[in-house]
Amino acid sequence: MNILVLNGSPRVNGNTAAMVAAFAEGAEKKHKVKVLEVCKMDIADCKGCEYCHTKGNGECIQKDDMQKVRAALQEADMLVLASPIYYFGLNGQLQCVIHRFYASGAPKNLKKVMLILSSGSDNVYDGAIYEYKKAFVEFMGLENMGIFKAHGEQNKSEAILSQLKDFGQSL
Ligand SMILES: Cc1cc2nc3c(=O)[nH]c(=O)nc-3n(C[C@H](O)[C@H](O)[C@H](O)COP(=O)(O)O)c2cc1C
Repeated sequence: MNILVLNGSPRVNGNTAAMVAAFAEGAEKKHKVKVLEVCKMDIADCKGCEYCHTKGNGECIQKDDMQKVRAALQEADMLVLASPIYYFGLNGQLQCVIHRFYASGAPKNLKKVMLILSSGSDNVYDGAIYEYKKAFVEFMGLENMGIFKAHGEQNKSEAILSQLKDFGQSL
């Protein structure tokens, strides 16, 4: 299986990146894992111009790095969304990518999805999980493979990282 991870965190050695690395270490034993650090990519938010649904035939009028994400999505069987919690939701960079799914939706080959979240405090995940379940599981019809969260001292802890590594290996 091809697994595509979209990591929204701008912190290269941050808490979300550590969770992604642990997951990838486990999953790479059997699967191909590609990680895109979307914060380092040039991806604007959706303009809401509706070009994609009128003249564009599912193509976005904006020619930026979302084209690279779209190409990687075409190859992926499973998508992993990874984000720090910013103000009780997903962070902005990842949110821009999600809004850009509007042009052509999820590719047909994509079947599974998973969520990784890191935060300072506990009990701050409802907004991000609501969006994930509504948009990716219900609306796009992807199978929810799991939601992994770490807050405060749990971040970068052996317990969380081995949980993610084991889960990756179990796929
Ligand atoms: C702009 C901003 C907003 C944040 N908002 C929240 C929040 O609402 N709740 C929370 O628990 N932590 C919040 N945090 C803390 C981060 O979620 C936390 O430090 C996380 O582990 C960062 O992950 P990273 O190292 O992968 O970037 C915020 C941090 C920033 C920079």
